[in-house]
Amino acid sequence: MEVIVLAAGKGTRMNSALPKVLQPLAGRPMLAHVLDTARQLGSTRICVVYGHGGEVVRERLDAPDLAWALQEPQLGTGHAAQQALPQLADDGIALVLYGDVPLIGQATLGRLVAAAGDRRLALLTVELIDPTGYGRIIRDGQGRVQRIVEQKDASPEELQVREVNTGILVAPIARLRGWLSQLSNDNAQGEYYLTDIIGMAVADDVEVVAERPDHVSETLGVNNKAQLAELERIHQRDIAERLMAGGVTLLDPARIDVRGTLNCGRDVEIDVNCVFEGEVTLADGVRIGAHCVVRNARLGAGTRLAPFSHVEDTVTGKACVIGPYARTRPGTELADDVHLGNFVEVKNSKVASHSKANHLAYVGDADVGERVNIGAGTITCNYDGANKYRTVIEDDAFIGSDTQLVAPVTVGKGATLGAGTTLSRDAPAGQLTVSRARQTTIPGWKRPVKNPK
Ligand code: UD1
Ligand code: MG
Repeated sequence: MEVIVLAAGKGTRMNSALPKVLQPLAGRPMLAHVLDTARQLGSTRICVVYGHGGEVVRERLDAPDLAWALQEPQLGTGHAAQQALPQLADDGIALVLYGDVPLIGQATLGRLVAAAGDRRLALLTVELIDPTGYGRIIRDGQGRVQRIVEQKDASPEELQVREVNTGILVAPIARLRGWLSQLSNDNAQGEYYLTDIIGMAVADDVEVVAERPDHVSETLGVNNKAQLAELERIHQRDIAERLMAGGVTLLDPARIDVRGTLNCGRDVEIDVNCVFEGEVTLADGVRIGAHCVVRNARLGAGTRLAPFSHVEDTVTGKACVIGPYARTRPGTELADDVHLGNFVEVKNSKVASHSKANHLAYVGDADVGERVNIGAGTITCNYDGANKYRTVIEDDAFIGSDTQLVAPVTVGKGATLGAGTTLSRDAPAGQLTVSRARQTTIPGWKRPVKNPK
């Protein structure tokens, strides 16, 4: 089976510099969703018909299994399909999809393709309370589909019909070639209508069948930002339903956003307003507090993210506690039972088991051993303005509060750094190192008083 994706429309009503089919749904271009679905159907080739300004679409989504056909100017859906023909095999069947109908589902399309077989024309239709704007499905007295009439060409009686064309169809390729070559633009819009092939099929005694989608929402198109937002919510709700069906506790399924893949173990709990981006895996018993953003991360069993934490390109072991208000940046690797508290930032660092930085710290480009305690206000000074250097903190070290570790520097095993230390040379193992002026008290000292005016 070959797939034609019509994606040449300008999308003027998006009021955006980004082409319509690149507008993101769940963090990915709308067209990428359509292409994924087409691929899941086992299509042999996918031909995307793109239009003026569509080069960026091609650059963004090109892949070995895609063919591209430029449609310029855009003379209608039939003309668009014609542009794809040179790229298609001589026979077999072609499925026509729209680049701006991103929620179309694999199951629905599977049924449509099965209904078409190798010689029927299969249409995906829906019944709408308000069919305004859509092509109407005209059936004969026996209920057989005869043709499609577009809104602007329809008679008052035809406008009463509530069964409409979703635009998605399957046709035998050899027949499609013949029909498309006969299209005329003698209609209200002066366009070459793909929908005219239905009447031609009937005239050629090709059986036309109509199938319904599993959900009407699958066939919704996007023309403006409001419709895009509406589809986003529908899609997120579906993702939430799937997560809950898999056993995940969502405190409010209407308040989660998954922009990528979220894999969850057993008894995972997610509080409200969390955003998951890229590839995220939450092992058994992970709990995510409210308002967290998690991107490309693997959190080990029993790990807890407290509210307002931001976790990116991070791997954790078991039973870690992160946040509230913590930030882990790319290259963060935490072993088991690591605690990062409020306003702690970790970047490109490994922290071994049972180590803690519970308040206000920056740990960047560091290797932290086991059972290390990093006091409040500790900073690894990893950057001299030109180069970055590593800090090594060995097992059982104790870093006093408000300490600066000027990298490259090593704190030996079991060493203690006094509060306020600026460490610019290695601290030996097992000893107290402190760098600060000694405290003195000046006896009899008096506060200055104001001079009389
Ligand atoms: C089309 C159908 C109509 C159906 C409706 C469903 C025709 C003639 N009409 O109408 O029966 O009810 O979709 O939404 O097919 N496109 C191109 N090149 C073009 C024109 C369109 O690639 O020259 C693409 C668009 O990007 C879009 C799709 O085809 O993805 C549909 O185009 P649109 O202009 O929205 O068609 P409608 O008039 O809505
Ligand atoms: Mg349309």
